[in-house]
Amino acid sequence: MSPTARHWVLIPAAGAGKRFGAAVPKQYLPLAGAMVIDHVLGLFAEHPAISGCVVALSPEDGYWADSLYADHPRVRRAVGGRERCHSVANALETLAREADDDDWVLVHDAARPCLRPEDLDLLLDVLASEEVGALLAVPVHDTVKQATADDLIEHTVPRERLWRAYTPQAFKLGLLRRALAEAEASRMIVTDDASAVELLGLNPRLVEGRADNIKITRPDDLALAHFFLQQQGRIC
Ligand code: CTP
Ligand code: MG
Repeated sequence: MSPTARHWVLIPAAGAGKRFGAAVPKQYLPLAGAMVIDHVLGLFAEHPAISGCVVALSPEDGYWADSLYADHPRVRRAVGGRERCHSVANALETLAREADDDDWVLVHDAARPCLRPEDLDLLLDVLASEEVGALLAVPVHDTVKQATADDLIEHTVPRERLWRAYTPQAFKLGLLRRALAEAEASRMIVTDDASAVELLGLNPRLVEGRADNIKITRPDDLALAHFFLQQQGRIC
């Protein structure tokens, strides 16, 4: 690894939160006195190992200006795209103006406010000895079924080596740019960053993180996130 590689954070925040179904995109919903995205930026903006953050915002965004971090000197904005992968690709272009190809980029969903600081630090430690990249993930504990189109069980999927992919997902800037460009060229809509890198035939490392690093997706998840932040002692 390059001894001078820096670490940047890229936050895709251009989604509309359709499954959540609120009037406001879920990353801007209030959670314990701050917006969801502010809990996320609170983990990164002042972190000594992070050189800066880029937030990908919808062109129609009307909420970012109210963020506690809207004018933070280490937070920049980029224009988001149609799908998450397009938002990440656009924000990488913005980042590439000041970051190097060998710098690490940690991509973290704006809707995951419960990432634990110790899991972030664990991931940063792992990167020191990785070439391709690494992501936080959680082993699958439930029994998993493959179904037919009409919801009959076809077979049971062995779960021993199944993981749920979480974020942050960290890759070198140059590699992730190339991976997303190639995915786009083959018209693949990848739902996480590792998928794009896998398409290049590479094998990112899974790093076991805490299961409470949930992505707020549906309305029940907001109360769950509140509970997890309380449990972590980050809010009263
Ligand atoms: N995201 C993005 N650009 C998009 C779509 C999603 O930056 N075009 C971001 C979301 O804001 C979120 C993260 O990617 O922080 C994960 O996506 P997801 O949970 O799917 O959020 P939404 O797309 O907003 O939700 P939904 O799919 O229910 O509409
Ligand atoms: Mg989505």
